[in-house]
Amino acid sequence: MRVLGIESSCDETAVAVLEDSPAGVRVLCSLVSTQIPMHRLYGGVIPELASRNHSGRLPSLLQEALEQSNCTPENIDAFAATGGPGLVAALLVGHTAAKAIALAAGKPFISVNHLEGHLLSPFLFREGRENEPTPLPHVGLVVSGGHSLLLHVKGLDDYELMGRSRDDAAGEAFDKVARMLDLPYPGGPEIDKRAERGDAQRFNLPRPMLHESGYDFSFSGLKTSVLHTLAKLIPGGDPHGLDEQSLCDLCAGVRAAIVDVLVHKTRLALRHTGLRLLAVSGGVSCNSSLRVRLREMCEREGVELLLPPPELTTDNAAMIAFAGLLRAKAGKFSSLETPVDPNPQLAGFATRS
Ligand code: KG4
Ligand code: ZN
Repeated sequence: MRVLGIESSCDETAVAVLEDSPAGVRVLCSLVSTQIPMHRLYGGVIPELASRNHSGRLPSLLQEALEQSNCTPENIDAFAATGGPGLVAALLVGHTAAKAIALAAGKPFISVNHLEGHLLSPFLFREGRENEPTPLPHVGLVVSGGHSLLLHVKGLDDYELMGRSRDDAAGEAFDKVARMLDLPYPGGPEIDKRAERGDAQRFNLPRPMLHESGYDFSFSGLKTSVLHTLAKLIPGGDPHGLDEQSLCDLCAGVRAAIVDVLVHKTRLALRHTGLRLLAVSGGVSCNSSLRVRLREMCEREGVELLLPPPELTTDNAAMIAFAGLLRAKAGKFSSLETPVDPNPQLAGFATRS
């Protein structure tokens, strides 16, 4: 079976083609055309510019993806696209394009929840494990620009929410702090880079909800704390007055605070469920310190860790095609009338009686 996936929920236009065979799933082609340099000029994503650019780039990207994977629409078995969460006008571009090709080729359409795409993406590259069902029961940590979720994954479409961010998502916290420090958008990689040269102990930044029971996160207090720290360092708190070492120390402090909370809550979720498998996804899982700390934690806890390669952690269409493929194999297709939804729920908390 071959599935073509389209991603256009935010600032990446992406198309991928996957092929499923008895030997496992192969990525025939995965193209990502990023709009980041354009949005960087404004310090964040401008929705109107994003959707205009998706519609400008998508046709040629689709053509290129079909050529590179040696396919025509007729020998693709299903067309998948992100239906949400995301920016409505941006989602509409990819969603409508997938519906149109599916209709023209007489093939089924699958609307994919972007977060499900992230959540299942670690299973796309599981060397030597092709005969096991996907997804195996596990704890999923999804940390992206818009969401921070801890989920108990029981099977496809069977997700129980264990914890989530009560305010800013982890990626959002990185981006907002970076903006306060006048670092370019997106802030996560900028902070990560500088944190490597910084002293995480120098500034005592808070770890919100670290010692509270439950698995929820909260990152909005970090911004206030960084503001106060800046104001103490420089009269007026102007980040341009910061010397390079203080900037790196502050970045290291912010990164350590976010990573500590994520690792701690994930460890609690693993212990509570007794599950021995953790899959981590979303743009923040690119973070070098988070990757190291999760590996250490999993080794200590005797837990297997699925951590996708960095190019699969930020937005891409291979993850959308993969979720589409799993849905197609389970017969879960979508009607051509399925609307986009800027804020769909992936999972709810378990109801306790
Ligand atoms: O998953 P993603 O590409 O898009 C969403 O679905 O939101 O995630 C983007 C987020 C941004 O907030 C970006 O700052 C963050 O991922 N990010 C990182 C790193 N690379 C990307 N955060 C921390 N460290 C990184 N190295
Ligand atoms: Zn994403």
